[in-house]
Amino acid sequence: MRKNIVAGNWKMNNTLQEGIVLARELQKTLEEKTLKCEVVICVPFIHLASVVAEVKTVIVGAENLADKSSGAYTGEVSAAMIASTGAKYVIVGHSERRTYYGETNAVLKEKVLLALANGLIPIFCVGEVLAEREANKQKDVVSTQISESLFDLPTEDFRKIVLAYEPVWAIGTGKTATSEQAQEIHAFIRKTIAERYGSAVADSISILYGGSCNAGNAGELFAKPDVDGGLIGGASLSVDKFLPIVEAF
Ligand code: 13P
Repeated sequence: MRKNIVAGNWKMNNTLQEGIVLARELQKTLEEKTLKCEVVICVPFIHLASVVAEVKTVIVGAENLADKSSGAYTGEVSAAMIASTGAKYVIVGHSERRTYYGETNAVLKEKVLLALANGLIPIFCVGEVLAEREANKQKDVVSTQISESLFDLPTEDFRKIVLAYEPVWAIGTGKTATSEQAQEIHAFIRKTIAERYGSAVADSISILYGGSCNAGNAGELFAKPDVDGGLIGGASLSVDKFLPIVEAF
C-alpha cells in the first residue's frame, strides 16, 4: 500500500541557526509520538547537512537541484551533492521554480533523471494557475506536466516518485482547494498514471496535496481516498502549526 507523507517546504525562510532550532524542536516533539505518516522537511541547500544531523524521526529533502550532473555551473547544486548530505528527497518542479526561474517540463525531466540516478526521491509538483482553472483546463495542464517530464521513465523508476498536486492559486494565498477539488484532480492523476503504467503502479504512488494546507483543513483533505498527504509551505515553519497537520492522519 502507498505511504502517507506530510512534507514541509521551508522555501527561502530561516537562517541556518533558525533552521537548526526548528529541526531540533520538531525532532524532539515527533520522537514522542506514534506517527501514522512519514514526515519530511525540505530545506534550503545550506541547511541540509546540519538539519540531517539534528533529526532521526524526520526525513530531510532539498527544494531543488541542478539540471546538470557537475562542472562549471556557478551557483548550482547537484543531485550528488544533495545526496552526500544524507538528504533523501528533493522537490522537483515547484510552481515557484516553473514561474520565477523558467523551468520547463523538458528541464524538469532532466532533473528527475539526475535525482533518481543519485538515489534521491523526487517530489514532483504539478498544478494549474488561476486562469487555467477558470478556463477548466486543470486536467490538461497536469496531465501534460506529468507526461512530458515523467512518462519516458521505465516503470521501476517511475514507481519511486512522489507526486504533489499544488494548484498555484492556492499556494500562499489562504485559498485552499476544497477536498472535493483536490480529490477530483488526485483521482484524475492516478487514472492518468494507470493508463501509462497500469493500476498496480498507479495505486502505489503517493500523491500529496499542497496549497494553504493547515491544521484546520488537513484532516478533511487527507480523508479523501486519493490524497496521501500534504506538501506544506507556511505552516511548516513552526512546530505548533506543522504538528496538527502531521497528526491529521
Ligand atoms: P503554502 O502551504 O504556504 O500555501 O505553500 C504550499 C507550497 O507551495 C508547498 O510547496
